[in-house]
Amino acid sequence: MATKIIVELPGARDYAVRIGEGVIDALGTSLRDVPSFERVRDVLVVTDSNVGPLYLARTKQALAQAGFKPADVTLPAGEDAKTLAVAGEVWSAMAQLALGRDCAVIALGGGVVGDLAGFVAASYLRGVPVAQVPTTLLAMVDSSVGGKTAVNLPEGKNLVGAFHQPSFVCADVSTLATLPDREWRCGCGEIAKSAVIDSDDFFFWMLDHAHDLAGRDTAVTAEAIQRCVVFKAQVVARDEHETSGVRECLNYGHTLGHAVETASGFGTFSHGEAVAEGMRFAVELAQAQGGVAEGFAEAQAELLDALALPRLSYDATADDLMGIMKRDKKVRGGQVRFVLARDVGQWEATPVSDDVVRAGLASWLG
Ligand code: NAD
Ligand code: GLY
Repeated sequence: MATKIIVELPGARDYAVRIGEGVIDALGTSLRDVPSFERVRDVLVVTDSNVGPLYLARTKQALAQAGFKPADVTLPAGEDAKTLAVAGEVWSAMAQLALGRDCAVIALGGGVVGDLAGFVAASYLRGVPVAQVPTTLLAMVDSSVGGKTAVNLPEGKNLVGAFHQPSFVCADVSTLATLPDREWRCGCGEIAKSAVIDSDDFFFWMLDHAHDLAGRDTAVTAEAIQRCVVFKAQVVARDEHETSGVRECLNYGHTLGHAVETASGFGTFSHGEAVAEGMRFAVELAQAQGGVAEGFAEAQAELLDALALPRLSYDATADDLMGIMKRDKKVRGGQVRFVLARDVGQWEATPVSDDVVRAGLASWLG
């Protein structure tokens, strides 16, 4: 059975996130109901070298059946492809196909494809529609919804991009069957983040079903995705461009997580594993600065353990991690910012003084 969740945005920009088994086969007919696809005939499907052999033919067939004319471009798989140079190749491919303003982009893949294809769509001819077709757990629960698009620079991740909301999101959970375990854990980290930040209802449901999610139970996975999308849709509706501070909650666990990913070498741990590490550290920091509700630290640890997201082992000094965090995009006035959860569903984004962070890191690293 498929579910539809609406992301509500001003200016008649609402869009649907369709989640279910086999929904990719109805992609073309679903897009025929999307206002910004009304005049679209030519579509460029952007995918990567792992996802393409698995799902490109099926996607193109679904599009062609509804009268679209699909072309495709395949990126090398992995974060290294998220560059301006690769975006330039896709822009050129579109120009060589003589695609006009009545074309659209279909992002078929994980967060890398989604972010790059979304950025290409945001900028080609000053903007054409994009539909996101996420195929990783992370992309289904987070990156395909909310309109953040970007490429990396040698100086850092996601430094060039745009807000460009998708016109439609098609999350076919059957595509997750081929996802490697490591990428599964990656998605679980972001799900744990959403559950902690959202509400008691999501958190305790997730605690009850964490072993099933780690074991890739289909029904539990579909419900976890739906809960994450409902949560993210609410956050994005309240703070689309991350200006009021509400959207900052999505960075829970990311300040230390990103530093761990960088210090240990990108790819050593999955992003979600590093986020889980960051969530554990954020609780210790919150305990040292203002306190947390009784039982919260233990409950979060129980959830992360049950999702098979253990503490990570890496060689990094407090100075290494501090240096990286000081270059984080979230630094304001030289101070590192953390999202600190005080309890399930209660959080604040706050600067933390260097002394407190250093003391926290020293105790964290032992
Ligand atoms: P990814 O896109 O690199 O995918 C992970 C790996 O899984 C890749 O090798 C990919 O080829 C493979 N893969 C994808 N789907 C598959 C499937 N169904 N079967 C088999 N293999 C499959 O990584 P990701 O974790 O999906 O995304 C990470 C990216 O997302 C980062 O660049 C990050 O910055 C970005 N991100 C963006 C947002 C946002 O709001 N825009 C949020 C979170 C993360
Ligand atoms: N994944 C962070 C955001 O969408 O804001």
